[in-house]
Amino acid sequence: MSDTQIWLITGTSRGIGLELVKQLAATPSYVVIATCRNPTKALALKELADAAKGRIHIVALDVTDDKSVKESVAQVTAIVGSHGIDYLVSNAGINDGGDDRPSLMDLSVLQHVFDTNVVAPARIYQAYLPLVMKSTKKTIVNVSSALGSITLARGPIYTSYSTSKAALNMLTYKEHAEHPDLTVISMQPGHLKTDLGGPSAQLDVDVGVAGVLNVVKSLKPDDSGKFFDYQGKELPW
Ligand SMILES: NC(=O)c1ccc[n+]([C@@H]2O[C@H](COP(=O)([O-])OP(=O)(O)OC[C@H]3O[C@@H](n4cnc5c(N)ncnc54)[C@H](OP(=O)(O)O)[C@@H]3O)[C@@H](O)[C@H]2O)c1
Repeated sequence: MSDTQIWLITGTSRGIGLELVKQLAATPSYVVIATCRNPTKALALKELADAAKGRIHIVALDVTDDKSVKESVAQVTAIVGSHGIDYLVSNAGINDGGDDRPSLMDLSVLQHVFDTNVVAPARIYQAYLPLVMKSTKKTIVNVSSALGSITLARGPIYTSYSTSKAALNMLTYKEHAEHPDLTVISMQPGHLKTDLGGPSAQLDVDVGVAGVLNVVKSLKPDDSGKFFDYQGKELPW
């Protein structure tokens, strides 16, 4: 049991989250808490769990809902016990604003995107910090985007999404600053073919996710508070 590592991922019904669960399940010493807001509809995830012989636990979790998060913590605590959570991956995210521009932004969309992409990862951090602190690896990965880098920004498009990911990057920095004993990073997974990334994205989802896992598994304490891409390159904020 000593080499067991426990991973918790949000937003695993499809896309990057589902692929993370799939690739992690290939390592026998990993236990995956695969959270999603609607487990009964997450058929691909259920198929993975059925094949994983008890190493994938599906837990209902809507990251924007306080009650759902609290209920998930109780359920996850019963699963992980004193081991805690080695890797907490805040992956759930949306881009409801499409390629909105500052002047065309629907402010209710901006608010909704912030609720999921910024407030929710902060809520997950607060709720799960005690379980992360119990673990050996004490690692938190906030799935961000190069679109959230001001240095790499691409002009007046994708305003709601980009603004939310820039704020998420600051949250990563603040979590690191508050807890230097954790390893907390922002991760750009690459432009991947998912519902969010679209069919003409640069890379297949398995390629980006394999890169993300390579980078996360080789993180060192000095990497905390930084922003990396799926190839391990440090990105500017
Ligand atoms: N794909 C890319 O090119 C790309 C690039 C850079 C960054 N990212 C980031 O990577 C992450 C995953 O993106 P993706 O491409 O996999 O997107 P996706 O295919 O659209 O999947 C999004 C996932 O987030 C979940 N989700 C959304 N709102 C949620 C909520 N309130 N509670 C729980 N789960 C929720 C969805 O669940 P439902 O099925 O229930 O809706 C789904 O599982 C996001 O943070 C995104 O910003 C993606």
